Amino acid sequence: MLSAERIMQRCDALARHSELEGGLTRVFLSPQARAATDQVLGWMREAGMQAKLDAIGNAAGRYEGERPGLPCLMLGSHLDTVRDAGRYDGMLGVVSAIECVGFLNSKKARLPFAIEVIGFGDEEGVRFGTTLLGSRAVAGTFDDKALAAVDSSGTRMEKALRDFGLDPKRIPDIARKKSAVLAYAELHIEQGPVLEAEGLAVGVVSAINGFSRLRATLRGAAGHAGTVPMNLRRDALAGAAECVLATERIAKGHAELVGTVGRIEARPGAINVIPGEVMLTVDVRAPQDPLRKHAVAAIRAEIEAICRRRNLQSEIELLQEFGVTGCAPWLMAQMDRAVASQGYKVRRLPSGAGHDGMALGAITDICMLFVRCKGGVSHSPLESITKEDAAAGATVLYDFIEHFKLSA
Ligand code: GLV
Ligand code: MN
Ligand code: MN
Repeated sequence: MLSAERIMQRCDALARHSELEGGLTRVFLSPQARAATDQVLGWMREAGMQAKLDAIGNAAGRYEGERPGLPCLMLGSHLDTVRDAGRYDGMLGVVSAIECVGFLNSKKARLPFAIEVIGFGDEEGVRFGTTLLGSRAVAGTFDDKALAAVDSSGTRMEKALRDFGLDPKRIPDIARKKSAVLAYAELHIEQGPVLEAEGLAVGVVSAINGFSRLRATLRGAAGHAGTVPMNLRRDALAGAAECVLATERIAKGHAELVGTVGRIEARPGAINVIPGEVMLTVDVRAPQDPLRKHAVAAIRAEIEAICRRRNLQSEIELLQEFGVTGCAPWLMAQMDRAVASQGYKVRRLPSGAGHDGMALGAITDICMLFVRCKGGVSHSPLESITKEDAAAGATVLYDFIEHFKLSA
């Protein structure tokens, strides 16, 4: 039997692997990530899978089909979190997929394809500022340049991988061949309010919005907060404040566009010193690539203009960019059928959040099933789902897997 109770308990158990006292923060390649990954590998083995930690730090499990070595239906989501996170974003998809395989295994059922479940080590990109590292390694699009990225304590990703017991040179070995993966399906909380507003437990994702992420560094002149007259200052933080508002104004220019300055660091960062240098990040998303690209160009131009006016130097780097990832019609049709056959209303909706499927889209067709979350809240400790909705999600996913076939 599929057990929603077990799914909820496992999300609770994973939430205990946290560097944040009284909350949940678990970043890529941390000791807490190691403990959570080991726990997930144990659950995969209990569910009848062969499971191992792969070269990028993913928990990777495989349940063979009617005979060994068949191409797989890949399922999964991520095990890393944002800072002060909720316990379902990512983890629900991993534990629900394991639950489905465990149920198949309990029936000794073998399908005409293998199933792989992956708990991706990095989707959020919190530690090194670059996202989807686990799924890009599996898709063969991991960029070696990322190994030189440093975290806020100055640790290079390459060293963090070695400290985790991994050999960065082996990362290319985990790239899957296109012929080995039939499709990728991910269950995830909606992270938005649509399903709740319509009284629906689940929804079928139509596409994942594209995103661009920038890091801007503004350089002015540090100085004494008491002695330098206002008209002689080159205050990088005052310039950054204008950039934040410019980002907001440009993003508000179109109903489907969103823009966020999520991180800002002022240096040297003292109450009595004019900030000489500021770093800020900008995240822009949209359901159409030209709309997003146009907004990014406008934000860049505005940051440069603000800096010229204020006599600041600016440097803007594009950290990462992903186009809109459409879910495959043949897979959506199968997910719709599973939703309907479990007695739920079929509802398709786009995803405003990014997901591992964006990376997997490089090697295979993808689809996603959303599960309602309370108030549409995520990336927050207030993230919450009901046991009934966890059951709905797992039941639909199981139906999808059991009836999966290579055409609609
Ligand atoms: C991941 O959750 C993202 O969309 O930023
Ligand atoms: Mn997230
Ligand atoms: Mn997520």
